[in-house]
Amino acid sequence: MSHILTLGEFIIANQHNFPHAKGELSSLLSAISLAAKVVHREINKAGLIDILGPTGSENIQGEQQQKLDHFANEVFKQAMAARDQICGVASEEEDDIICFEHNRDANYVVLMDPLDGSSNIDVNVSVGTIFSIYRRQTPRGSAVSIEDFLQPGRQQVAAGYVIYGSSTMLVYSTGHGVHGFTFDPSVGEFYLSHGNMSTPKQGKIYSINEGHYQRFPQGIKDYLKYCQSEDASTQRPYSARYIGSLVSDFHRNLLVGGIFLYPSSQAHPQGKLRLLYECNPMAFLIEQAGGKASDGQQPILDLSPQDLHQRVPLIIGSANMVSHVEQLLNRSQSLEKHIEKQA
Ligand code: AHG
Ligand code: MN
Ligand code: MN
Repeated sequence: MSHILTLGEFIIANQHNFPHAKGELSSLLSAISLAAKVVHREINKAGLIDILGPTGSENIQGEQQQKLDHFANEVFKQAMAARDQICGVASEEEDDIICFEHNRDANYVVLMDPLDGSSNIDVNVSVGTIFSIYRRQTPRGSAVSIEDFLQPGRQQVAAGYVIYGSSTMLVYSTGHGVHGFTFDPSVGEFYLSHGNMSTPKQGKIYSINEGHYQRFPQGIKDYLKYCQSEDASTQRPYSARYIGSLVSDFHRNLLVGGIFLYPSSQAHPQGKLRLLYECNPMAFLIEQAGGKASDGQQPILDLSPQDLHQRVPLIIGSANMVSHVEQLLNRSQSLEKHIEKQA
C-alpha cells in the first residue's frame, strides 16, 4: 500500500508554493488543525456533556450564541495566540479585532467563523469552522489595526474550512489548488484524501432557503423556476439540497457540482452571510477549484470590505450555474429600470 501523506507531511512537501518564509504556513495550519481536533472531540460528545443549547447571550450581530459557538471561538483563539506567526484575529463571535500584543512582530492575521451552522448542532447535523489568512498591511512591530482585516478577498494567502460531518475533514488552499484531509480519530491525524479538488462546471443541485422565495429579487425567482422546470437535454429539474450549514452545503456542492445561493431579500437586503468570515474564504476555495463566487454583480473576491461584520449576498458554486444567475439578475434589473423610465 502506498504511503498516505499526513497534513503535516503534505505542507512540508508543498511549502515552496507558499511565497513567504519556510515553516510559516506549516505553523499556521497546524494551529488550525490542533484547534479542529479539540472541537471535533467536543462535538462528538454533544448530548453527553453540557455543551448543547444557547449561552443566553448574543453576538454583535444580535444572534443567539450557542455554547459550542463560544467554546469553538475560545479554542481557536487560544491556538492562534500560541503561534509566533499570528499578530491578531477577527471572529464572527467577537465585537472587535483582537490584537496579540505578545506577537506584534508577526506577519499574519486570521479571520474566522469558529462554528458555522451552530443552530444545527442540537439536532446532530454537520457543522464547520471557516478560516481566512492575510498578510498584515501595517508594519511589523506595531499593533494590528482594522485595515489589516479589511482586505479584499483576493489578497488572502490561505483559506479553508473544517467540516465536522460523518467524518471530520480539513480543506484548504494557499492559491495552488484545493486539498482535503480526512481526520482519523484513532491516530489523531489528518490524512490527504482529496488532493487537487476541482468542481464540475455544471451541476444538478441547487441549495437555497426557499422558504424566503416571496422575498427574493426577480432574477433569483427566475433562476429557481429554471431549476425546477423540465428539460431532459439539461437534466432538469435539478435536485434541491439545503442543510443550513454553509460549510456542509458548500462541501457537497464542491464535490459533486451545484450552486448555493444566499441572496438579498426584503428581510435581509445584504443577504445573511458575512463577507470576511464566510464569503471570502469560500470564494477563494471555489475559484481555486474552478468554480465562481459572486454577489450577483461582481466576484466576491473583488469587493472592498467596509466593515468587519459586513454581510453580502452570496451565489457560489459551479461556474456555469453562477454565471447564469448573474445574467438573470442583470436582465431583470435592466427590465425594472426600463419600466421605471416608462412610468
Ligand atoms: P452561523 O451558524 O455561523 O451563524 O452561520 C449560519 C449560516 C450558514 O451556515 C447557513 O448557510 C445559513 O446561516 C443558513 O441560514 P438560514 O437559516 O436563514 O437558511
Ligand atoms: Mn456561519
Ligand atoms: Mn458561526
